[in-house]
Amino acid sequence: MNVYDSELIEQALTPLNYKITSSMETADLIIVNTCSIREKAEQKAFSYLGRLAGLKRKKPDLIVGIGGCVAQQEGEKILERMPHIDLIFGTHAITRLPRIIKQIESKRDRIVDVKMSGKIDEFESSSVSKENGKITSFVTIMRGCDNYCSYCVVPHVRGRETSRHPDSIMKEIRGLADSGIREITLLGQNVNSYGKKEGLCSFSELLSSINEISKLSRIRFTTSHPKDLSKDLMFAFKYLEKLCKHIHLPVQSGSNSILKRMNRKYAIESYLEKIDRLRRIYPDIAITSDFIVGFPGETDADFKKTLDLIKLVEYDGIYAFKYSDRPNTSAAGFLEKVSEHKKKDRLQKLLDLQEQYTTNKNQSLIGSTQLILVEGLSKRQASINEQPAFSIRDKRPQAVQWMGRTSNNKVVNFTQDDSSILYGTNLTGKMVNIRINKAFSHSLCGKLIKDSPTFLGLKGEEGYAA
Ligand code: 5AD
Ligand code: SF4
Repeated sequence: MNVYDSELIEQALTPLNYKITSSMETADLIIVNTCSIREKAEQKAFSYLGRLAGLKRKKPDLIVGIGGCVAQQEGEKILERMPHIDLIFGTHAITRLPRIIKQIESKRDRIVDVKMSGKIDEFESSSVSKENGKITSFVTIMRGCDNYCSYCVVPHVRGRETSRHPDSIMKEIRGLADSGIREITLLGQNVNSYGKKEGLCSFSELLSSINEISKLSRIRFTTSHPKDLSKDLMFAFKYLEKLCKHIHLPVQSGSNSILKRMNRKYAIESYLEKIDRLRRIYPDIAITSDFIVGFPGETDADFKKTLDLIKLVEYDGIYAFKYSDRPNTSAAGFLEKVSEHKKKDRLQKLLDLQEQYTTNKNQSLIGSTQLILVEGLSKRQASINEQPAFSIRDKRPQAVQWMGRTSNNKVVNFTQDDSSILYGTNLTGKMVNIRINKAFSHSLCGKLIKDSPTFLGLKGEEGYAA
């Protein structure tokens, strides 16, 4: 969500002739886009902003702004706390940025805009520019959240749940596909409840329409609330060929009493039933989840239930966080806080347990053939290419390493070492078959299969076909 918002900020500032620079020292405007989901993210944002004070002293004309959830939450208080900040804008103010920046440029005013407009069309992107050669893009389909999980700041800083009209979503995605985007990730705090409030189409109907966009190869989405996971969406994985076979289904805890106090509105039994049904409909689907450890009142017995859940489900991967109090949430007022020491210990135990499942799942793919969408050079290759020319001048052409993802969302690095055919071919955006030969805990390695790649969704375009 924040990456997408940063792209919108960039887009909003382009008409004012601001361009991204790689060096802070040369910048005329610095905007720090913030996240306040956990305390640590907020602390990081403030320490980063604090470091900009020196720069502002050296260059008084520099405009420094803070946007996103921390700005929304703290508003005017930041003006007092940080005299070097010129601008504080909330999660609904991005489209108002050009006007605000102009005012700061001409009058050197300090401005706070944390108004919540509530209208999603104001946030609509008119197709984020994709001249940078990227082939994946985010698309926001809804904003805000009405669920009020007791630990979560999102409804307080992003407002009520609002869905975008399907026509405007389709228009944006068609535009992105025409400009070279091959994979989109639909974003919303709870995509499963898309359109319900406004009486628009359902989320699975939206997916079916997107699946028809011929130039698009893949569709992903995040995040799903387990209570709203419908049978239709489960079947979408089976029938929509472009929908990637991965679902992120945050469970947060394996204990019913904790789930109740988190206000998650499901019991672990119904969560497991849904996972079971999903796997019966599409057995190879990858399932990932989020967990919070050390929620107020979490006992050793509650925590054991979370470990048991991880053993039972065998997730493809998880994200886990130590609970932190967030402003205005009901859990912040809960007593029985868990000590930092215990939270740290539980987090480590949980991550250690999951590590073996993640590795096992990856290892089980060795020897298999995976269709991947190539996103670009691998990180290693990109850093080699950045080395000064003299250090690679005398080397023979080497195997080029590329990076992409499987439908299951596993990162694959692979070499393209048949120089007679492929050396120099840009594979970015192509769908290729890769034979997996190595597995690590967070990625896979493989080799391009010479005589079987297919370029789905690229009919008529030049490709490496058998
Ligand atoms: N403390 C710790 N983790 C949190 N998350 C949300 N709020 C908190 C909090 N107060 C986690 C949840 C959520 C993910 C995005 O962040 O696991 O799914
Ligand atoms: Fe936060 Fe719960 Fe909404 Fe997710 S569903 S954004 S955890 S309130």
